[in-house]
Amino acid sequence: MTRQLLGEPLAIRGTTLSNRIVMSPMTRGFCPRGAPTEQVCSYYSRRAAGGFGLVITEAIGVDHRSALGDAGLGEDDIPVLHGEAPLAGWRRVVEAVHAAGGKIIPQLWHQGVMRLPGTGPHPEAPTLGPSGLWGPLRRTTSIDAGKIPSQPLIGEPMSEQDIEDVIEAHVRSARNAIQAGFDGIAIHGGHGYLIDTFLWEETNRRTDRWGGNRARRSAFAAEIVHRIRAAIGPNLPIFFRFSQWKQQDFRAQLGNTPQELADVLQPLADAGVDVFDASVRYFDRPAFSGSDLSLAGWAKKLTGKHAMAVGGVGVNKGMYDGNSNLSAVDNVDAVVKRVSSGEIDLVAVGRAAIGDPAWARKSLAGDTAEPFDPASLAELR
Ligand SMILES: Cc1cc2nc3c(=O)[nH]c(=O)nc-3n(C[C@H](O)[C@H](O)[C@H](O)COP(=O)(O)O)c2cc1C
Repeated sequence: MTRQLLGEPLAIRGTTLSNRIVMSPMTRGFCPRGAPTEQVCSYYSRRAAGGFGLVITEAIGVDHRSALGDAGLGEDDIPVLHGEAPLAGWRRVVEAVHAAGGKIIPQLWHQGVMRLPGTGPHPEAPTLGPSGLWGPLRRTTSIDAGKIPSQPLIGEPMSEQDIEDVIEAHVRSARNAIQAGFDGIAIHGGHGYLIDTFLWEETNRRTDRWGGNRARRSAFAAEIVHRIRAAIGPNLPIFFRFSQWKQQDFRAQLGNTPQELADVLQPLADAGVDVFDASVRYFDRPAFSGSDLSLAGWAKKLTGKHAMAVGGVGVNKGMYDGNSNLSAVDNVDAVVKRVSSGEIDLVAVGRAAIGDPAWARKSLAGDTAEPFDPASLAELR
């Protein structure tokens, strides 16, 4: 089994990725007033030149007043996809990535209840969740105690108009992205942000068409996917990131069994998702007992769609497991094995891609890449 398998192209709808290695979406906060700078341009184009077949951008706030604020990552300099300067900036980023031979898609983001009320570009806008619930308190979380509300209920349930506005905000941002030249769309449906709070039983207690059981809790995400598909046409891929874990509760499960997971994912597959991006801390951990299949593997098996694995590729510790004794590790062969068996189609690389812009090229060649240094997050290299 050779690493060259990861160097093989993958066609998704009308778009062909040159290889299977993807830069994972990572918030960096270097876009003053929402607009990517020349520095952001070279940050992404260096990864395309360094062999990543696809770059997924940092999460980008959709065109809605409640989308962005302080979500524990700092509230400044997070990008958007509307307005003259941000769109001009993104056009330059896309051109630079294309000139370097890569492809790039934006990750659309609404922070939902993770946005600290009173923060962000529109501090007066309410923080939104399907049932006004932040989530259960005192679960396993890494959120600063000062940023956890004192009560689970933080506001009103979203109105039908709120829901329609947020759906359309995603569609507008997706349309703007395609007009700016992006090669597809990624949707952030995980980690306890807005879309995920619709999927999660603990935060979605609605009894209307947006809640009730797993399939009905997927209706909001499915409607976003469906309308984005209608807006961008049949040729461009839609990636959907989901996670069992939530920032509010690392041990949360959307589905406790493969069948329950299918109930969550099938409406999204039917609505037009092409690639399920299953966000876990370790790409090779089994998702359910009794099988070696990873969460991404199950997403593919259950829906028949493509799947992307992520988590701990090129680094020895998972994203939330602290930085002590963090080191580079060569576990690419374990990824190759899962691609070769057909379990997954793509692999996303997060911190290792920050550590070395040429991580993909070097890993394909069997060369040693520069390690990830957490201190480097303070700047854009
Ligand atoms: C600095 C940083 C910022 C991140 N921001 C995002 C984000 O904006 N959207 C997202 O879906 N995941 C985000 N993540 C998670 C990564 O995409 C990835 O899933 C995680 O780091 C695990 O992959 P890794 O072990 O290869 O780093 C971020 C991770 C890091 C380290």
